[in-house]
Amino acid sequence: MLLDRRAIAGLVGGLLAAARANAACTSNLVIDNFIKWTAGVNNLDWQNGDDGSMTAIAASAGQVVFIPKDDGSYFYESFDCQQAVTNGYGGIQFTVQGPAGGSFALDLQSTESCSNSSGSYKSSYNIVDNMTGRLQTVTLPLEGFDNEPNYDAIVGLVWESFSQTGVQWTVGNITLVCGTVPSPSQTTEVVTTRSTIPPTTTPTRSTTIPRTSTRTTAPPVTTSQPATCSNLLIDDWESQSRLTFLGYNAMNQPSSDDGTMASIIVSGNRLMLRPQDTDSYFYSQFGCLNAKDKYGGISMRIRAARGTSFAVTMTYSTTCGATNARSVTLTTAQLKWTFDGTERLYWFPFSAFTGLDTTKLDMIYFSNFNAAAVFGPMAFYCGSTASEYIIPSSPSSPPVTRSTTVAPAPDAKGFVIDNFANKDTNALGQWHGADEDGMTITFGNRAMTISTNSSDLGWNTQLTDTCTDLRSYAGAYLHIAYSGSNKFSVALQQHNAKCDSNIKPYPETWDSLEAARYGTATDIYMPLNHFNVNLTRVIGFALKGFYSTSPTTISKIEIVDTLPAGWKVPAKLASGRLVFACTRPNSFAFAIDDGDPKYAKRVMEIIKQADIPVTFFTVGLPLLDKSSGLADIYKEMKSRGHQIALHSYTHPPMEGLPDTASIDWEYNNDIGAVRQVFGADSDVRLNYFRPPFGTEGARMRQRLAANLDDPNPYIVQWSVDVEDWLWAESDTPQKQLDAFKRDAAAGGNIVVMHYLYNSTVELLPEFIKVAKATGKRLMRVDQCMEDPRAPPLT
Ligand SMILES: *[C@@H]1O[C@H](CO)[C@@H](O)[C@H](O)[C@H]1NC(C)=O
Ligand SMILES: *[C@@H]1O[C@H](CO)[C@@H](O)[C@H](O)[C@H]1NC(C)=O
Ligand SMILES: *[C@@H]1O[C@H](CO)[C@@H](O)[C@H](O)[C@H]1NC(C)=O
Ligand SMILES: *[C@@H]1O[C@H](CO)[C@@H](O)[C@H](O)[C@H]1NC(C)=O
Ligand SMILES: *[C@@H]1O[C@H](CO)[C@@H](O)[C@H](O)[C@H]1NC(C)=O
Ligand SMILES: *[C@@H]1O[C@H](CO)[C@@H](O)[C@H](O)[C@H]1NC(C)=O
Repeated sequence: MLLDRRAIAGLVGGLLAAARANAACTSNLVIDNFIKWTAGVNNLDWQNGDDGSMTAIAASAGQVVFIPKDDGSYFYESFDCQQAVTNGYGGIQFTVQGPAGGSFALDLQSTESCSNSSGSYKSSYNIVDNMTGRLQTVTLPLEGFDNEPNYDAIVGLVWESFSQTGVQWTVGNITLVCGTVPSPSQTTEVVTTRSTIPPTTTPTRSTTIPRTSTRTTAPPVTTSQPATCSNLLIDDWESQSRLTFLGYNAMNQPSSDDGTMASIIVSGNRLMLRPQDTDSYFYSQFGCLNAKDKYGGISMRIRAARGTSFAVTMTYSTTCGATNARSVTLTTAQLKWTFDGTERLYWFPFSAFTGLDTTKLDMIYFSNFNAAAVFGPMAFYCGSTASEYIIPSSPSSPPVTRSTTVAPAPDAKGFVIDNFANKDTNALGQWHGADEDGMTITFGNRAMTISTNSSDLGWNTQLTDTCTDLRSYAGAYLHIAYSGSNKFSVALQQHNAKCDSNIKPYPETWDSLEAARYGTATDIYMPLNHFNVNLTRVIGFALKGFYSTSPTTISKIEIVDTLPAGWKVPAKLASGRLVFACTRPNSFAFAIDDGDPKYAKRVMEIIKQADIPVTFFTVGLPLLDKSSGLADIYKEMKSRGHQIALHSYTHPPMEGLPDTASIDWEYNNDIGAVRQVFGADSDVRLNYFRPPFGTEGARMRQRLAANLDDPNPYIVQWSVDVEDWLWAESDTPQKQLDAFKRDAAAGGNIVVMHYLYNSTVELLPEFIKVAKATGKRLMRVDQCMEDPRAPPLT
């Protein structure tokens, strides 16, 4: 009989482990499930933490969540010397979630013997790589670490050398497991070079004095370069809104063109800079970075036409601040960078910039462009040999699986809604048309072609100008015959209970399905019962949430009784509930979005004076920016009983993002930011989200539900719009009050406003007065939605 290599290895490993298991192991030893995080210790009452090496760290639900700052970032667990082999443990198990393709090193710290406390410590490494991007469980057998650890005298674990910094990682449920653990899979390999980043300082969050006194010897400190230094990303051009709406790079430091460029477009991890003239510039700051002995220079991909030239300036500040900035400038010619229209990697060593203090790097500044240029990922490279920052591949979305869930036949016969014979009305003689300008719509050949560059716009075709009862079609399908792009959503709109379009909100709600999931290249079939709306009072269908500018041509929209033979329908994905109004009778909610940090205090004072609970929808990235001061303000607001809720990480139009990976990036980072600021185990509920710009669509709803692991989160729109975006900076800022009065009088009861402008903030007391005068009770959004988990009304 032939045994393959892996089987032999497994067999040998099994025999070894069995031979080593001297004692019966009665139960796994939980080192840390983070229930004692706030006390500053792990389950064994020993220290854990990051010694401040992370940008952000918090713990909840069995895991610690952190964002590594640089390749000196680490997370450690210490414990009583464990005679792991003698006591029958076979491996170390933990859960981890990191960027897809990512890797990290696990340092197992051991000593000579558990009975000899004066022995010296040693670090042994294992690299865990090929992260899936999802939560995964890693089990490492007590074998295969380098540097021959004493598995019978282990005292600590350190997670470090994270392949990606500036993104969220989690580690959870750290356990020594009993019995035989299979040989390492290919995802585990031994590192040959090593370094030690030992836990030496005391975490500040600790309220309990950890039992450190029993630990007499600190692990060895080495000053050598970490074995797996990873290039430090300056910007991966991951998010247009992060750069041009909020003005940050991937280091969460300021980056901008200050409006000097003719255009600045972020797409597909590239930055397209089109200069207006030679005064156009672009900069990216580092926050006084110390690159000495670690990074040798900066590398980036560039594509520019032959003959393109510009200047590169590196600045440093002798005092780590805006003052005392010094700069050194080189032209592309001096750097010997020449362009030929293809994208290539370019770099410079810091030594090229004479006099540059690499311990206090402030920013890189590009100017004096004679033509446009496209930049790829820009990073500090490790050591003296230039290398490229490679963008980790994101997990591809799973293919749509379709089953044949045929709905029961409808009670009524199908009918044609729209055949595009008429520009102004559909086949039912009802209105069809676009929400507002911004969509290009052409008719011809009994078809209509739509294209738009705004994911916020929609085109409607109505069944009625009041309520239509579609219950007898619950088993039927919406069929759309089309060609071209399928990157849009289809919504079925629900009228308000009075079926009165003069009453707010109108429509009351709708559900959106993703065209691409339900269609082939020519036809879309959507079961009507996949739309979570009240079928007794529907208004009509809308095509909306276009996330491509490519046109779509539609030739028919109809309701049909049956599917074509063999047609398969995908499962309905959870899509949350889209709300515009309170459900609690006689309630009214102020829901205040992001704003300018300089007005935040004033808003808080006004709210305090009015003595009303409100909801704040916060943007994650500015919350993390210490210089904004927002974290403290929102923490105070929370402690005063206000609701804190999500409003994305960088404020993009969520449905307009090109792919689910970008949507997930926003949600994950946002959830991470809120957890970091309020503490992962705080009572901040994350199931309320206000879409930036109100941009809604099937994908952003489905991914919200998926990322929150909650089938029914609230997607909170509004029914009272102060129209600050329109009037706040106009000659007639008072019109914000008129808008408020108009919508409140029409029955609106959930507000949208920002604190971006002085005039809006100064009108807030007036808004509150008007709201109170309606006789309704002012409360938080969760309270006005009668959410059983909302705090009781007091
Ligand atoms: C940790 O373990 C607990 C209990 O088994 C489980 O409920 C939780 O989901 C786990 N968390 C992680 C992140 O593994
Ligand atoms: C403990 O370890 C130290 C340092 O390795 C060694 O000098 C000493 O002899 C050991 N003591 C015992 C009792 O093994
Ligand atoms: C892990 O990644 C490396 C390098 O990309 C690759 O060679 C290897 O096959 C991967 N291992 C697994 C188990 O996917
Ligand atoms: C989108 O289209 C509008 C009108 O068609 C135009 O004014 C605007 O510049 C376009 N925006 C972009 C980003 O292309
Ligand atoms: C649907 O709307 C009808 C008419 O307004 C109402 O009577 C019914 O209770 C609603 N159904 C649900 C489930 O809300
Ligand atoms: C805001 O407006 C108020 C009232 O008009 C004025 O007193 C105040 O100085 C303004 N504040 C700022 C920062 O412009």
